[in-house]
Amino acid sequence: MSIIVTGADGYIGWPTALRIANRTDDRVIMVDNFARREWVEEVGATSATPVASIDERVDAAKEVFGLGNLSFIEGDLVEKAFVDELLAVHEPDVVVHAAAQPSAPYSQINGERANYTQHNNLQSTRNLLWGLEEHDLTDTHFIETTTTGVYGAPEFPIPEGGAVMENQGERDEVPFPAMAGSWYHLTKSHDAANMRLANKQFDIPISDVRTAITYGTETEETREDDRLKTRFDFDYYFGTVGHRFCAQAVAGYPVTVYGKGEQRKPFISLEDAVEGLANLALTDPDDRPDDLTVYNQVTRAISIVEMAETIAEVGDEFDLDVDVEHFENPRDEDETHKMEIENDRYMDLIGEQAQDFEAGAADIFETLTRYADTIESYEDRFLPGVLEE
Ligand SMILES: NC(=O)c1ccc[n+]([C@@H]2O[C@H](COP(=O)([O-])OP(=O)(O)OC[C@H]3O[C@@H](n4cnc5c(N)ncnc54)[C@H](O)[C@@H]3O)[C@@H](O)[C@H]2O)c1
Repeated sequence: MSIIVTGADGYIGWPTALRIANRTDDRVIMVDNFARREWVEEVGATSATPVASIDERVDAAKEVFGLGNLSFIEGDLVEKAFVDELLAVHEPDVVVHAAAQPSAPYSQINGERANYTQHNNLQSTRNLLWGLEEHDLTDTHFIETTTTGVYGAPEFPIPEGGAVMENQGERDEVPFPAMAGSWYHLTKSHDAANMRLANKQFDIPISDVRTAITYGTETEETREDDRLKTRFDFDYYFGTVGHRFCAQAVAGYPVTVYGKGEQRKPFISLEDAVEGLANLALTDPDDRPDDLTVYNQVTRAISIVEMAETIAEVGDEFDLDVDVEHFENPRDEDETHKMEIENDRYMDLIGEQAQDFEAGAADIFETLTRYADTIESYEDRFLPGVLEE
């Protein structure tokens, strides 16, 4: 058996590959083109945690966990010939597809980056789906981290999958309409539609895992050795909201909330995200659904202001004096939207939440206070700039 994890040099992909390899004797083949390292450099930023090279990571995994089943292949999934060879040689039973350009602000910088993001993400997914069909691998379980951002912010509770539409008195369940709010998020709406088609036309079993905003620096495995740490970005383009707030707190800046900040967004810890992906990847083929299944990979919706206040409270325990400041909102969004989102299917997969936001923030501070100097020397990166003038 073999399992391919794409995007395995990334924030989620690396700890996911590590957990899967640690729980199975199957071969785990990691794939990445190191694009994330380049984008972050391009916007003049850096990961707060030093990111070991992939060779160091693999060596450390061998040393710490005795893993001999983890290997790495460098390649660009946009290249069809590369994907074809990858699939033909390794004949994976499972593909966990976590490779993408995942930053909404980066995709919004200009038309060139919007094009790049959409081409990169869509072409990679299409190459993998068509590759499975063309190499006679249609029993392979295809698992992709899409995003809860495909849903937008509807007034009704977000279902875990399709929604019922009604017109002229007739009702039907349809894939959830795409109300994504950025050129990046829309790549995942398109991927969701393409996966649905691939399931219908090619019969590939697919798990569309709609990943929420992920927080945290550590998983059970990455804690064991500094070389196993995953990346942690905190700049305007690549730092997700909770991460940016925590880094601002460490650098002595007030935490900035746009507008009222009462809108709730879906969140999950890295630990809980990795656990679900590993459980899906390691599900016995006889037990997994052979259809397309949507999972809302979220443990709780949290308002931005609640998040900022939690960070201030937890920061106190680390002797950080954190102010929460409100700024005029540059974005066009409902500042009081109370998102509700169903997640029963995902919770069944992981059993129970391992880390809430408070514990996640404590973990983040524990790590980041070790790298406060790095954050301070890049603190101008909290704001947009470099690429936008
Ligand atoms: N982190 C989050 O909060 C979050 C939230 C929702 C969804 N997601 C999704 O989860 C997945 C992982 O996100 P992440 O935060 O780990 O991002 P990341 O950028 O750290 O990881 C993605 C990895 O994919 C690689 N990659 C990109 N394009 C590639 C290509 N063409 N060929 C080979 N490798 C390529 C990058 O180099 C990077 O290492 C993405 O699909 C993202 O959209 C993440």
